[in-house]
Amino acid sequence: MALDPAFLEELRARTPIASVIGRRTKLARSGRNWKACCPFHGEKTPSFYVYDDHFHCFGCGAHGDVISFVMQSEGRSFPEAVAELAGEAGLEVPRPGPAQRQAEQRSRTLSDVLEAVQAAWARRLHAPEGRAGLAYLRDRGLTDETIAGFGLGWSGDGRGGVLAELQAQGIAPGLMAEAGLMRLDEDGRPKGELFFNRVTFPIRDRRGALVSFGGRILGDGQPKYLNGPETALFSKRRTLFGLDRARTAVRAARPRGAPPVELVVVEGYMDVIALHQGGFPGAVAPLGTALTPEQMEALWQVSAAPVLCFDGDAAGRRAAVKAAETGLPLLDLNRTLRFCALPEGEDPDSLLRRQGGRAVATLLEGARPVGEVLFDLLTEGVRDPGPEQRAALRRRLTEAAALIGDKGLAAEYRSTLLDRFFETFRRRPGQGGRGGKGAGAAPRPVRIAERPPLDAQATMHERMRILTAILLRHPNLLPEVEDAYCRLDLPAGLARVRAGLMDLAAAGDLPDAGALAAGLDAAGLRDEREAALATQPMPLSVSAPDSLMDVEVGQEWWHFYALLNVRQFGEDIRADTERLCTGTLDERAWSSLRTRLLAWEALRRGEIDPDAG
Ligand code: UTP
Ligand code: MN
Repeated sequence: MALDPAFLEELRARTPIASVIGRRTKLARSGRNWKACCPFHGEKTPSFYVYDDHFHCFGCGAHGDVISFVMQSEGRSFPEAVAELAGEAGLEVPRPGPAQRQAEQRSRTLSDVLEAVQAAWARRLHAPEGRAGLAYLRDRGLTDETIAGFGLGWSGDGRGGVLAELQAQGIAPGLMAEAGLMRLDEDGRPKGELFFNRVTFPIRDRRGALVSFGGRILGDGQPKYLNGPETALFSKRRTLFGLDRARTAVRAARPRGAPPVELVVVEGYMDVIALHQGGFPGAVAPLGTALTPEQMEALWQVSAAPVLCFDGDAAGRRAAVKAAETGLPLLDLNRTLRFCALPEGEDPDSLLRRQGGRAVATLLEGARPVGEVLFDLLTEGVRDPGPEQRAALRRRLTEAAALIGDKGLAAEYRSTLLDRFFETFRRRPGQGGRGGKGAGAAPRPVRIAERPPLDAQATMHERMRILTAILLRHPNLLPEVEDAYCRLDLPAGLARVRAGLMDLAAAGDLPDAGALAAGLDAAGLRDEREAALATQPMPLSVSAPDSLMDVEVGQEWWHFYALLNVRQFGEDIRADTERLCTGTLDERAWSSLRTRLLAWEALRRGEIDPDAG
């Protein structure tokens, strides 16, 4: 009696293999996996590994999933083991109905049909009629071993070839249509073979069962590739070409010190095959469509951080954005994505042939985390954003981070993206909100060595906190100081408050202090906001916010700002004063100049902090 595969999947998902094995054997962490002394043979050093969905003993070869573990360790039959695990998980074992038994029979029949066709096509590739196909594959650099390993074949010319042969063996055309090998006319009658005059690529599911075929025309011609239609066995959105082999390769034990086999997603059949042959057996490809969430789940079952490889052109970048959008909601602490971009005009197959394995290895080593890539993709082409563009960009970044389902991770991405935003699009002194001409906001990497030593840094952070606190109490100061404030390299918590503050300010009219506090708290920034306000002693503008004039508040703000870098502040004022004389001072700098001068005067009257500047 076979059980519903969906139920078995559910059972496996609900009974994590590590916890079931852990109840019987002491497990120790080993990277993402677990290891133990093998319960099936006596040993002193652990060679028994538990992965997310199976166990394997490198000592005695014991191997299986959670169900076979119970069978092997307790001598149970399959149904007994299932019943035991289901009982522990509170699941009821379903009884197979007649419809299900029939469906099972059917899919077993369909895979028999596919296997028969596969055998015939593979044979024909080496028969005289397959000569052109074989020559084509060899000409593309495939070895006979690769051709045989992937089971590539020749479909025949469609004139009553293979399928006629099978029909003679009693396989009905209707069944061949169900298996995705024949077209049907409007009345549902078989209307000819789908694959002819093509080399054929067997498509297997992750366990290696044949589910469909792809076929490539020899040389030029349209369509270049043909994929089998959706069938009871084949769902395009769940299948990745090459995953059966990649899965084995990624998980295989490898010699000590050998680099891991990366799981890599590329675009085409030929890319996958060429990469496997060239020493990159972790390559897989979707079937001519963008990556789906289901395919990503399948990837994560094999690797925590698969590498997605895209073309180096605009279409490739669009595809990368799309993949990031699909992937973000699914990310969590153990599931992420990396990206790499091919040199323009190359696909992995051509890169490998032209430049060799070293070039591909370098490409993969350079794979970058999704957060970094996302920033570049979302800010692509932006040079000197004006206020509206800055607001739009910030929104784009925060919206992208908000796509992530895991709350904690989403917050991390949000602050990382915004930190990079402020770092990259830092406004230059004297550059107005409209953005300067030409110079551009080329990202200036902040080097660790440029940071002041620790207590000086603590003092700086304290001042930045005060600047933030003043703005929290007096948001109406924001337009006047925004440029300067956004230039600051704030510590993480304050940077989050700033980002929240800017978001709220960009969303409409300037909020008052109360609305601002409420908005920040609603954005999950309560702790950061309170931390910014918590320092003592605070300047007048924070401790007694209502009693001060705007000018005094502004002066106090600029005073603390100046202390961060007295020399720079002095130079900015001098440059702006010159611009004032030549009539080239922009409006924002102008509006704050008077207050800055007042602050500057106060500092010069002997209040300059000696450790600043
Ligand atoms: P490419 O045209 O980039 O494929 O399409 P490729 O693998 O580089 O092809 P050649 O053999 O080297 O010229 C990438 C993938 O898109 C799907 C196929 O899955 C292909 O592998 N595709 C492409 C189709 O489904 N139909 C087509 O007509 C073309
Ligand atoms: Mn190609």
